[in-house]
Amino acid sequence: MKIIVIGTGYVGLITGLGFSSLNHQVTCVDINEKVVEKLNKGIPTFFEKGLEDLLKKELSSGRFKANTNLKEDIQEVDLIFIAVGTPSLNNGKIDLSFIKTVSETIGKEIKNIDRFISIIVKSTVLPKTTDTLVREIIEDFSEKELGEFGLGMNPEFLREGSALEDFMNPDRIIIGFEDIKTKKSLANLYESWDCEKIFVNTRTAELIKYTNNGFLALLISATNEIAKISSSIGNIDIKEVMHGVHLDKRWNPKVNNKRVYPKIIDYLEAGCGFGGSCFPKDVKALIKYGEENGNDMKIFRNIIEINNDQPKTIIRDLSKVTSFEDKNILILGLAFKPGTDDVRESPAIAVVKELLKKDIKIFLHDPIAIINFKKEIGANSKIKFINNWLDQVSKSAIIIILTKWEEYEKLNYSNLSGKIIYDARRVLSKEKLYCRKYMSIGLQN
Ligand code: UGA
Repeated sequence: MKIIVIGTGYVGLITGLGFSSLNHQVTCVDINEKVVEKLNKGIPTFFEKGLEDLLKKELSSGRFKANTNLKEDIQEVDLIFIAVGTPSLNNGKIDLSFIKTVSETIGKEIKNIDRFISIIVKSTVLPKTTDTLVREIIEDFSEKELGEFGLGMNPEFLREGSALEDFMNPDRIIIGFEDIKTKKSLANLYESWDCEKIFVNTRTAELIKYTNNGFLALLISATNEIAKISSSIGNIDIKEVMHGVHLDKRWNPKVNNKRVYPKIIDYLEAGCGFGGSCFPKDVKALIKYGEENGNDMKIFRNIIEINNDQPKTIIRDLSKVTSFEDKNILILGLAFKPGTDDVRESPAIAVVKELLKKDIKIFLHDPIAIINFKKEIGANSKIKFINNWLDQVSKSAIIIILTKWEEYEKLNYSNLSGKIIYDARRVLSKEKLYCRKYMSIGLQN
């Protein structure tokens, strides 16, 4: 098939390259000339495992290219995917301005084209965006009616850090459609994928995506709330509490007498909170949308409140056992999760901002996210970014781990006398740190 993907962020670029690797002809469109130039030279615009190699491979196969406009390829295209950003506005509402602009461009471009083209929304959007807003704009600007063009909604479930793998091995594919031709095209496109495919209308597809992220965020915040109880009692480790919970066969069934330990259990683990470009934005948008539709979004409002408090919990816990004044603090991990250089809504931002209120020196490390974090936090004389964190350990009074990077497991357990270690992601072994001052979310002795 001939495919155009509009937007070259996480979703757009991974989707475009994924389809290209499966022998489709793909053009990824972005209005940013610099981005297009870089991509056509084989330089990815963000870090993701395997991305650079795949980009180079697909460029040289001749199946993939980037462009600043749709014009060149629209005459022959079968499917146009919209994969532009849908960020949060200040009031938490979803910002649909990119979706609107792109729908307008598509409408104008398909106006004088006889070919049947299906437009598929891949961006995360709230129910009724595709079948109402996108449809109306395309109809207005193309002077065509739905049926003369096709409309679909096909949410993605990629996780940063394992996006290519997730694209190739999805848990399920949600195919939202408003016309039968689009349903058939998408069924064709995804034919070779061996997973459940769910065919629904576009507004159902949209709500599935939000509910998916909302539920995962809910599990994280629910666990973090129990972690607070555990800390306030003392001498309880939330990890042990949750292990007991994990053994319920509804979370963790036995197959052939062996526990499965499904991935969902990750989300029952306490920590310093969720970040990234999806959970915070999607939960906030869902709350606003629910409220606008007359629903009191009690549970979802509290997910955000609990999550916003998690980074502060670390400072509160530490304040109970030490003073910060004149101390060197080492922060390990700035990315919102391992495997990415993305720091958007990373708990590290809130932790560092809180610490900057104190008279201390902060040393910050991350294997790949330092550049992005610098842009986020700005220059400050109290902050120093370091590459060699192991050397800094002996010079620091407090060590805080905020991202579960594997390399932090190398922390030398024998070298930690007199130091406080706050392991907000449970990277280290509590047993090996016995007798040291080892703290975590939901673990206060
Ligand atoms: C998330 C979803 O997992 C994807 O299915 C979805 O496609 C994507 O959002 C999206 O909507 O685009 P992602 O944001 O890449 O993917 O990251 P996750 O691995 O889900 O982690 C999200 C956040 O939750 C991270 O900050 C992580 O550290 C945090 N987390 C995760 C916890 O705080 N505790 C946990 O137990 C698990």
